[in-house]
Amino acid sequence: MWDRLKAVHAKTKDRRIADLFDGSRVADFGIESDGLFFDFSKTNIDKDTYADLIALAAAQGVAEKRDAMFAGEKINETEERAVLHTALRNLDGGPIFVDGADVMPGVKATLAKMSDFANAVRSGAFQGQGGKITDVVNIGIGGSDLGPAMAYPALKPFAVGPRCHFVSNVDGADLADKLEGLDPETTLVLVASKTFTTMETMMNAQSALRWMEAKVKDPASQFAAISTAEKETAAFGIPAERVFGFEDWVGGRYSMWGPIGLSIMLAVGPEDFTDFLRGGQAMDRHFCEAPLEQNMPFALALTGIWHHQVCGYSTRAVLPYENRLLRLPAYLQQLEMESNGKSVSLSGDALDQAVGPIVWGEPGTNGQHAFYQLIHQGRQVVPCEFIVGAEGHEPHLAHHHRALLANCLAQSEALMMGRDFAAAEAMMAKKGYTGDALRAHAMQRVFSGNRPSTTLMYQKLTPFVLGQIIALYEHRVFVEGAVMGINSYDQWGVELGKELAQKLGPAVEEHGSTEGLHAGTAALVER
Ligand code: F6P
Repeated sequence: MWDRLKAVHAKTKDRRIADLFDGSRVADFGIESDGLFFDFSKTNIDKDTYADLIALAAAQGVAEKRDAMFAGEKINETEERAVLHTALRNLDGGPIFVDGADVMPGVKATLAKMSDFANAVRSGAFQGQGGKITDVVNIGIGGSDLGPAMAYPALKPFAVGPRCHFVSNVDGADLADKLEGLDPETTLVLVASKTFTTMETMMNAQSALRWMEAKVKDPASQFAAISTAEKETAAFGIPAERVFGFEDWVGGRYSMWGPIGLSIMLAVGPEDFTDFLRGGQAMDRHFCEAPLEQNMPFALALTGIWHHQVCGYSTRAVLPYENRLLRLPAYLQQLEMESNGKSVSLSGDALDQAVGPIVWGEPGTNGQHAFYQLIHQGRQVVPCEFIVGAEGHEPHLAHHHRALLANCLAQSEALMMGRDFAAAEAMMAKKGYTGDALRAHAMQRVFSGNRPSTTLMYQKLTPFVLGQIIALYEHRVFVEGAVMGINSYDQWGVELGKELAQKLGPAVEEHGSTEGLHAGTAALVER
């Protein structure tokens, strides 16, 4: 099937995407699910190619693997774990069994415990030494940071709880800058770490405890932990009543649906947080029930596979025309690149093609005034994924939103249509250029066009819609990984650097020794 798809690409790569638009293309290459609309008509995928891509997914048994994931089978084979972040949003679904036990009672009990705590903090029933909690500092990194750090600005219009701040980097500048201006007596610190051993998080947590100690008699009383490691949280001094646990079948980068989302729940309240879960659950249902041809995560993933594995475009840009989704690209970088940045299959065999495109992006329209030059006229093709809502949350600034929308739609059309030499020449001739100067000036203004993009649209960014979008991308990662035959749920690639950093720790102390270090590293340490 790969050979066939590559042959199709070789044969069709020079045709114009714009020429594929017959009367029904937008309907044929558009999928709607609970108000979320995915348009992939502005790609070079035609009906036959899409059928081939669906056949590829079918041949790889992706639907069966999906069902196994939802059923709690241990599809994370290298860590011998189930993959059940979907259970965290299985609000009104049936039981889900892992090793013969239903996990849903535990999920519901944790959600209730989170809600009780969030309500207590928001109402003032839980207080700091100085009274009602005004600020929450979430200390975590990777999957214990990026989800809530992305969702907090995204859901700002719904946030009526304490202000949230996110500290992740071991660079003391991060902690110092975030704590600046906060009152320890009215601050709650959440230490979010699945393992409770991650170096960055533990160092930041200890330093935050010292900061709190200077003013608060019982500093640990203003700490809560989000972790699976009960012994470690107890050793830190956080009592079980303020420890929010989750199971090993929730991977770090898939964990914002449960306790890792506590800061979000504190900000927006349990009801809106539940709406976020409902959005995720709605996407789960769609993913499980819609026929493959009309299945949004399949379509998004297969478009990704077409662009990366078949066409060979090595990166993809995620371009939210929604300023509040400014951290979405960073969030997706972990979700997609930590999940699928692999080079061996599940059975340990070397893959013969690259998996996991480089994901990057910035909110529009800022990106337009920065890197879009390359996207439009650079020689490399960058498939673009536009994300946009029909409405903003600022009725008094509705004209801003219309301008935002117009820009988003203009970009996907410009990428597809481009501008040919004749049009550029006519434009410059009108300005009075002739001869060689006319040619040179016209050439600068030629846009090859024919550059693919997709557009994800919704009415307005709400907790429900955010839940749909995040679950959509999670399932996209799953489908891409399953087609490629890799395990999307481990991350062995982050280990080596961590091990070496430990070894280097003593060397970078004052008067530390560089003995035993690689010469290239020793030279830098000495400098
Ligand atoms: O560095 C990789 C990683 O394990 C991520 O997968 C994870 O999200 C992050 O570190 C944080 O881990 P923890 O929640 O255990 O502190």
